[in-house]
Amino acid sequence: MTSPGANTAPHVPVLVNEVLAALSLHEGDTAVDGTFGAGGYTRAMLAAGAGQVIGFDRDPDAIAAARTLFPDPRLTLAEECFSQMDRILVERGIGLVDAIALDIGVSSMQLDRPERGFSFQGDGPLDMRMSQSGQTAAEFLNTAEEAEIARVLRDYGEEPRARAIARAIAAARPVERTAELAAIVRRAAGFRPGQKADPATRTFQAIRIHLNAELEELEQGLEAAERALKPGGRLAVVTFHSLEDRIVKRFFRERSGGTPAGSRHRPAIVDQLEPTFARVAKPVSASERELAANPRSRSARLRSAVRTSATPRNPSLRERQP
Ligand SMILES: C[S@@+](CC[C@H](N)C(=O)[O-])C[C@H]1O[C@@H](n2cnc3c(N)ncnc32)[C@H](O)[C@@H]1O
Repeated sequence: MTSPGANTAPHVPVLVNEVLAALSLHEGDTAVDGTFGAGGYTRAMLAAGAGQVIGFDRDPDAIAAARTLFPDPRLTLAEECFSQMDRILVERGIGLVDAIALDIGVSSMQLDRPERGFSFQGDGPLDMRMSQSGQTAAEFLNTAEEAEIARVLRDYGEEPRARAIARAIAAARPVERTAELAAIVRRAAGFRPGQKADPATRTFQAIRIHLNAELEELEQGLEAAERALKPGGRLAVVTFHSLEDRIVKRFFRERSGGTPAGSRHRPAIVDQLEPTFARVAKPVSASERELAANPRSRSARLRSAVRTSATPRNPSLRERQP
């Protein structure tokens, strides 16, 4: 998706044909593109005959670009988090939809602009906020306890040297620039030039996931999709690393009648619940051809399933209120 230093590289959609196949759109269907980005999936949905596409993105830049570059009357844009999709669809009088796609992560436009602070390939302010609101990466790194930074690096970056890196960040505060952070991480992790994997990758990923609450968004987005789909509706989700893929895999397993798994917050439910999803497809990875054309597709994984007519497991907050 991104090539270092390339400022204008367009976002190349990943697994788009496979996503379309999983969505199996019929002429006139209503579809949600939960992660609009540069609109690669939306374009494909419209070309496949969708009658209406609702494109969500939490990044105001993505929505602003779409408004000027994408004048299609069948497209409705929403500058919102996809975890809110069921509520927004009701508020806009759209109701239940036939298909939903989620393409998790950051876009080339976000990564390739140093001023967004997502990448250490160019130097920029430590920002990393998809929605351009809330706490910046610099604010987090300069105010959080060292132990909290270490936890974030371990939990969201699977960084084995999390404590050493957190200690080095705390000692160097204030940290304001992406290049500064990358240099601190490389020193703390013992990085040598020429070494294959740059340790800064894991730290940047971890901070980004934490600041944007990406795993919570994914969990809530899957539940929102369950509420937003018609019976027979299709859900396709593309992820780029194992933390995300695990969430999607577990969700489909639980919802399709597999072993119910509890979480820290919610104990395992032992009674039999009616499956809300069926026909869970085997995970799909990029073909050799796509890999050759777009190296970023290497870690991409698509999971998909079809909604049944069963009641959603978690009613929306509004429904829960007395
Ligand atoms: C990988 S890109 C999607 C690319 C898109 N499929 C395309 O072909 O152009 C992910 C996009 O989703 C947005 N995004 C990430 N998490 C989101 C969330 N929770 N709610 C809404 N948009 C989100 C990001 O801002 C980014 O623009």
